Amino acid sequence: MSKKRGKFFQKILRANFGFKSYYNSELVNLNLKKWEDNMAKDAIVAENLTYRYGDLTAVDHISFAVKEGEILGFLGPNGAGKTTTVKVLTGQFLPMEGRALILGKDISKDREEIQAEIGVCFEEKNLYERMSAVENLRFFAQLFGIRKFDPYPLLKKVGLEKREKDRVESYSKGMKQRLMVARFLVNSPRVLFLDEPTDGLDPVSAETIRKVILEEREKGVTVFLTTHEMMEADKLSDRVAFINEGKIAAIDTPENLKHKFGRRALKVRVREKGKVVEKELPLDEKKVAKDIINLFANEDIVTVHTAEATLEEIFIKITGRRLE
Ligand SMILES: Nc1ncnc2c1ncn2[C@@H]1O[C@H](COP(=O)(O)OP(=O)(O)O)[C@@H](O)[C@H]1O
Ligand SMILES: [Mg+2]
Repeated sequence: MSKKRGKFFQKILRANFGFKSYYNSELVNLNLKKWEDNMAKDAIVAENLTYRYGDLTAVDHISFAVKEGEILGFLGPNGAGKTTTVKVLTGQFLPMEGRALILGKDISKDREEIQAEIGVCFEEKNLYERMSAVENLRFFAQLFGIRKFDPYPLLKKVGLEKREKDRVESYSKGMKQRLMVARFLVNSPRVLFLDEPTDGLDPVSAETIRKVILEEREKGVTVFLTTHEMMEADKLSDRVAFINEGKIAAIDTPENLKHKFGRRALKVRVREKGKVVEKELPLDEKKVAKDIINLFANEDIVTVHTAEATLEEIFIKITGRRLE
């Protein structure tokens, strides 16, 4: 390491870890290595991951990685293989080919160790209906061996603090799902696997859950989120994977996907023979300026707005099928 670079790292180390160190000391090098190792590690790695139900290959040799603190949106229609992927990643099903590493450990080998550090949410609700929200959370805290557990901050986070003593059986679907969210946060997981967590919920519950997901990401938690809603994937994900027939058709940031595959367009509504019709002018073509001038000179314009491609349009373009 050059002297200059060493000084620079010392400064960063002091700023980040608050300890004094000396240039070229063992301590600097050791901590520097730790610091470099900690930078943007992969929290989830899937290599050639495959799962079959009889003859049907539901997860078909998929490979991807999710960095610590990243939200990966796993977007695909019903039957695409989302739930099966989550089950293989979280150790409920053993992979038939390939492997999954969670926090650097192989899920086929270190399942229990991994499960203590992750939070999982499936469609089936494993809550005790006859118990209250507080009792449910206390019970799960006990399972995790957490001694001093205060359920109230979690209940507040998901907006259930006023109904916390009512039996879960009296809750709406959205309230139960919010309690599920509080439940999977009990062990302060470092990685979350959420299988369509907002599917079919009322808007307030869905928004509460989305907010919690973003708050967890802010804390550095990694999130694997399946959805068939393009808006949700677009809004929450750092990167989106398109899944179709068990395969990943594309994986990138929403912006890059739109940039690579989408077209921007000007949507113009004009009045023609007493009727309002919508016209689209592609913005990425060379003659666009001429078209726009023509339009404004010759048409009776009602409204104009620009439209970027949606993830659903791009999904259709790449896979040939819709998300619904
Ligand atoms: N237990 C099962 N037995 C047989 N086939 C299944 C089973 N579960 C799912 N499948 C099939 O596997 C494929 C993927 O399903 P799934 O992972 O549930 O997709 P998604 O969650 O994206 O809707 C579908 O064709 C589905 O019908
Ligand atoms: Mg599913």
